[in-house]
Amino acid sequence: KVYTDYFYNESAFNTHDGGYIPMEVPDIPQQQLRIPELLHPDKETDTDMYYTLTAQEGETQLLPGAKTKTWGFSAPLLGKTIVLKNGKTIHMHLQNHLPEMTTFHWHGLNIPGPIEDGGCHAPVYPDGHRDIKFKIHQPAATVWLHAHPCPETAYQVWRGLAAPVIVQDDVESKLPFPRDYGVDDIPLILQDRHFHENNQWDYRADYDPDGVQGPTPMINGTVNPYFDVTTQKLRLRILDGANRREWRLHFSDDLAFTQIASDDGILPEPVHFTHLMTTCAERHEIIVDFSNYKPGDEVILYSDDTPLVHFRIHEFAPDNTTLPDHLVDIPDYEPDPDMPLHKVVMSGMDEWVMIDGKKFSMQRIDYKMPINKTQLWDISNTNDMNGGMIHPFHMHGLAFTIVSRNGKAPYPNEHGLKDVIAVNPDEHVVIKVRFTVPGVFMYHCHIIEHEDGGMMAQIQVYDPKEPDKKYDLMDHETL
Ligand code: C2O
Ligand code: CU
Ligand code: CU
Repeated sequence: KVYTDYFYNESAFNTHDGGYIPMEVPDIPQQQLRIPELLHPDKETDTDMYYTLTAQEGETQLLPGAKTKTWGFSAPLLGKTIVLKNGKTIHMHLQNHLPEMTTFHWHGLNIPGPIEDGGCHAPVYPDGHRDIKFKIHQPAATVWLHAHPCPETAYQVWRGLAAPVIVQDDVESKLPFPRDYGVDDIPLILQDRHFHENNQWDYRADYDPDGVQGPTPMINGTVNPYFDVTTQKLRLRILDGANRREWRLHFSDDLAFTQIASDDGILPEPVHFTHLMTTCAERHEIIVDFSNYKPGDEVILYSDDTPLVHFRIHEFAPDNTTLPDHLVDIPDYEPDPDMPLHKVVMSGMDEWVMIDGKKFSMQRIDYKMPINKTQLWDISNTNDMNGGMIHPFHMHGLAFTIVSRNGKAPYPNEHGLKDVIAVNPDEHVVIKVRFTVPGVFMYHCHIIEHEDGGMMAQIQVYDPKEPDKKYDLMDHETL
């Protein structure tokens, strides 16, 4: 079966909103798609990996003429790709060479909060550094690293602080997927920007409390990119790295493609699509098969009518691998009888966004729950203003599974592990929450301006041996 629709409520898509900025590709020659370099470990043993990561300023040639002032992680823009292996202990030496405080948030890693997780309680000051250590215990997935200094996350991500992170394991490595990084396995970070005078970005000038958008698509930090296809099959690790934009993806000729993974791991079954919508911070790994094309052809990836990437087809060897119908088993847990349904309500738009009727407070714990217990959470979007909008709900510190959307089955590609779930206006999405590591973690809307605007709350996840453990939580003053 090949699905041909986007599933989401058409009326709630980005475009309905007064602040929507349509995209247009500037009239410049096509540029080769940037592929982030791999971050090399400083040292690697059988059990441990050591890395240094630097948040830094840089300059990037994005348009003809002046270079754009950009920020990145160990790179001028975005960041190097970090490859982590399940089971290993990771040592990160985090340095800040920016003129302001930042944090290093591992979006999608199930590691302790609030320090290792890198939310707003783990500042690294200018010229400062922080050493953290964590163990990877989760399946192969595409996750990411981004800045998270509340309430400046949106600004710093806009300036470029976002990098791909690939988790590998022994299950994924045995599946017949393309995995030659940069050749047939590439990240695709979807972002949009507004270029002002001299090709510079000006976040404050473009500010919109419902999320900053720009008219120019930027893919892996490339404007108007092409990619040379030299294999029949290509694996794209798509990340919506935009502050606010939703993307409605489809290829020329309505070429069908296969989704093999969602946010935090391989899907139980591959899902075939011609259209795919993604909201902020979600990841979708897809495999595209170019067998019906020949050298010289071009296949275009679009969002609505805007071309995002031109895939230039070259000579390739035939590839007859087929995917099994079943890819992986997703662990399932019955909700604990002593953990009744927990409700989370997202409401408002613009400056009025809230979770459970409250704005975020750094020192307030909004909910507590023990590790290794399973609970159903009902996440709703009240749609109480101007026809409402989709809010992508994200939780730190775990991967959850989707039980239902308004009592019905989740979308076909929502049967795997996720950490972001887009909730339509007037919808209740039920998810299964089970933390395995303790700590204080944030949960929030991932329209980053909503998160910064207070649509965020905190959970303390405790080990039953230490239910009242005290954490040092920053506040806006001590920052
Ligand atoms: Cu992408 Cu608080 O996270
Ligand atoms: Cu996160
Ligand atoms: Cu929101």
